[in-house]
Amino acid sequence: MSINHFLQEWFTFDFYMFLTDQNIIVLKEVDSTNNYAKQLIADKVEEGTVVLAQYQNAGKGQQGNFWESTAGKNLLFSLILYPNFLAAGKQFYISKVVSLALVNILKKELENVTIKWPNDIYIGEKKVAGILVENSIKGSLLDSSIIGIGLNLNQETFTSDAPNPVSLKQITGKSYDVQLVLNEFYKECNLLLNDLKEAKFKSIDEAYFSSLFRNSTWSLFRKNGKKFEARIIGIGEFGQLQLEQKSGEISTFMFKEVEFVF
Ligand code: BTN
Repeated sequence: MSINHFLQEWFTFDFYMFLTDQNIIVLKEVDSTNNYAKQLIADKVEEGTVVLAQYQNAGKGQQGNFWESTAGKNLLFSLILYPNFLAAGKQFYISKVVSLALVNILKKELENVTIKWPNDIYIGEKKVAGILVENSIKGSLLDSSIIGIGLNLNQETFTSDAPNPVSLKQITGKSYDVQLVLNEFYKECNLLLNDLKEAKFKSIDEAYFSSLFRNSTWSLFRKNGKKFEARIIGIGEFGQLQLEQKSGEISTFMFKEVEFVF
């Protein structure tokens, strides 16, 4: 039976597990696909397994926020990896690769797709996808990685107070097939993960930097409630944002230490 057949049926059944070139577990409802994936890792599930949900009743965003997604409208999934080829200090490369995979597939459909540092996917000034990577480390290497992705495809209104949400449908007026978009992502992500396995750090760094939202242009940022003008000049080894102010002062920020002003 084909992958298409199974996914066409996903509204009528609660749970499926099937095997093609990838393992996918399709859930009608779950608290969070990342939580479900964590349990699968404890059960030593195969690398590359995807947990796909129609609806999450406690979808997790960054910083403990709730990830809003109307049932059946969007792509909500977690991909399980065991990237034990990667030093713990290089874990931000997982975010880079996943962000680039999303950008590359979205660019086939739209212009103006960027990565808002560190890993929000933007179309113009609006957020179309969020990524929540949860890594575990063993010794000096990564052990497992749960890559949780919420990509807004067909939702037409957003009610949470999340800043700037948008779906592909709101922009193009078209409807999108969850399964096709997941397949596209899976292929693209595997290509980039191979680059990472082959330690092609420089090409990943360049692609990531050139895809960044507001890179190299002067724009407003906010730290501790104070606004300042700066431009992004680089990304540090651990994923820190490097900003230059007009005075020539250069500062480095960890996640959530600085925000973009809209
Ligand atoms: C963000 O806040 O930008 C990250 C959002 C990540 C949401 C996805 S939806 C699938 C996966 N499961 C979760 O609970 N969260 C991620």
